[in-house]
Amino acid sequence: MFNEFFRYDGDQLMCEGIAADELAGKFGTPLYVYSAGAFRKQYREIADSFSAVKPLVCYSIKSCSNLSILKLLKEEGAAFDCVSKGEVMRALKIGADPKTLVFAGVGKTEDEIEHALRVGILMFNVESESELTAISRVAARRGVEAGIALRLNPDVDPKTHKHISTGKRESKFGIDIERAKASLKRIRELKNLRLKGVHLHIGSQITENDRHAEAIAKVVPFIKEVKAADFPLEYINVGGGYGISYRGSEGLNITDFAAKMLPHIKETGLKMACEPGRYVSGNGGILLTRVIFDKPSGDKNFLIVDAAMNDLIRPAIYDAYHKIWPVQSEFAPDAEIAGDAGRVYDVVGPVCESTDVFAKARRLPATNEGELLAIFSAGAYGMAMSSTYNQRPRAAEVIVQGDKFWVARERESIEDLIRGERLTPREVFSAADL
Ligand code: LLP
Repeated sequence: MFNEFFRYDGDQLMCEGIAADELAGKFGTPLYVYSAGAFRKQYREIADSFSAVKPLVCYSIKSCSNLSILKLLKEEGAAFDCVSKGEVMRALKIGADPKTLVFAGVGKTEDEIEHALRVGILMFNVESESELTAISRVAARRGVEAGIALRLNPDVDPKTHKHISTGKRESKFGIDIERAKASLKRIRELKNLRLKGVHLHIGSQITENDRHAEAIAKVVPFIKEVKAADFPLEYINVGGGYGISYRGSEGLNITDFAAKMLPHIKETGLKMACEPGRYVSGNGGILLTRVIFDKPSGDKNFLIVDAAMNDLIRPAIYDAYHKIWPVQSEFAPDAEIAGDAGRVYDVVGPVCESTDVFAKARRLPATNEGELLAIFSAGAYGMAMSSTYNQRPRAAEVIVQGDKFWVARERESIEDLIRGERLTPREVFSAADL
């Protein structure tokens, strides 16, 4: 979490060569700040750890979808994992080769399938027999062959938060292996499908390094069967889910993790694809926020900040832990603060919901109104899951690279929020118009 990209230089939090305090002063808060170097390094770690099998590393756009981020990852050689037409369009917008796009999701619409086929993506990760039929129908209509991978549900416990667990039998994701066997027959019958791959994605923020290996091992016999049946399999896509460190110590060691998986991947004889999101983006970004009020109430001290659950919803919906520390502090971020220098706070947003809480009972250096706090590990599923709830315009996003920085997304305005709404209707319909 703290490294060459985000670190304290004396009492100042720095993102690469720039003081976080200066960025907040210039662009206002709440503000997402991304380190280009951190994104590049995290991407490379995955590409390098699996280099023995020359992986197709498809960055999971959903985790942090800013165009500038996608562009810099493309420069590193990334392919992309998309889950909607919007994400496919983002990838195309930054000039990604459509043949590097995979498309996942349990409910792809006909319009999304049509669009993905039109632009010529590498393959769909297919999650049901109905989806096979839908893709075949649209591909036949267009006179093209659709590349597909079967997303298998290996019934493996990823040992992560239940809201982000996808590999167990009872989850809505993937096809169980028995059904997958039956669907091979269906794939032969259906027209315009090319079974290119097998896909797995068992969950997110997985910190035990043998979960993926177990999942792959479970599907190897199926892969052998499919190959023996002469399907043109090329890829094993092992999905994403690689856990990072939010507290300082719990992240995966990617080298050990790869070492567990590689023998199984090699046994399949297939090319490896993967879909990391959080591992690349999570510790590449922070959220800066300013303390509006210091409010002692009951037995507590509340720090009420200008970011809220609409900016970063992870603590509210997953009880997620994010390290919080003042942007300017005489104490190192891992310091035990003795006596009056510290205080136990609940750090909360201004939204009228009792889950609008970033941290409960956290001992922090004593903090005054007007001071800045940094919420760490906010690069993944931060801005990407933000909303305008309470009519709060979304935060700006800034990228820092060395001693340069730029706005990657402007702060939203109130005008942006009301665009598309009408006080007087353009046209009024009645039942007779239907
Ligand atoms: N591939 C598929 C098919 C996925 O569904 C996901 C994430 C990924 C790859 C990337 O997973 P990652 O490497 O980022 O773990 N909003 C939650 C996480 C939801 C993950 C959804 N799927 C959070 O904030 O923890």
